[in-house]
Amino acid sequence: MKPKSAAQSQISAALVVLPYHTNLIGNMHGGEVMRFMDSTAGIVAQQHSLCNPVTVSVDELVFQEKIKVGDLIVCEAELVFTGRTSMGIKVRVKKKNFKTEKSDKYAIEGNWLMVALDENRRPIPVPPLIIESPEQQKLFDAFKAKLIKKDER
Ligand SMILES: CC(C)(COP(=O)(O)OP(=O)(O)OC[C@H]1O[C@@H](n2cnc3c(N)ncnc32)[C@H](O)[C@@H]1OP(=O)(O)O)[C@@H](O)C(=O)NCCC(=O)NCCS
Repeated sequence: MKPKSAAQSQISAALVVLPYHTNLIGNMHGGEVMRFMDSTAGIVAQQHSLCNPVTVSVDELVFQEKIKVGDLIVCEAELVFTGRTSMGIKVRVKKKNFKTEKSDKYAIEGNWLMVALDENRRPIPVPPLIIESPEQQKLFDAFKAKLIKKDER
């Protein structure tokens, strides 16, 4: 199977936070942010594998910054790991400061593991990821190390 680069599937998606995304104090619900991150990660996995992906696990979601109604948020998702049928995707959400010149703040990040399924809903091999930089190698190794740690539990 022909290997593919992360750039071929990488994506950014934007969303303005509306009242129906938030709780009574105007903060975006964690579940809503996760849904946004999950669907963005899914697009990356779909573009890489050209198959139907499903989410297998989500690792270490940290809510570093609150997101409020009216905020513009951007979700960046990039493939960092491939196994045989699985794909590791790094997903980061940043708050855009579109009303000021302050720099954007990362609010949440997490690691998604997705598996490509064929039309019979069975796992199917995905193209290997082309590693193009030492930084990408680091991310690949870190993702793989976490999976190995899980297997040992
Ligand atoms: C994902 C799923 C198809 C895997 O099925 P399975 O019978 O375990 O398949 P396999 O043993 O062939 O594993 C497939 C891949 O998933 C990985 N995997 C399966 N369970 C895993 C787990 N708990 N943690 C990490 N990786 C896992 C395997 O390591 C393998 O990766 P690889 O091919 O890159 O080496 C199955 O668990 C499933 O359908 N889960 C529900 C998914 C879902 O509904 N998600 C929510 C909606 S999108």
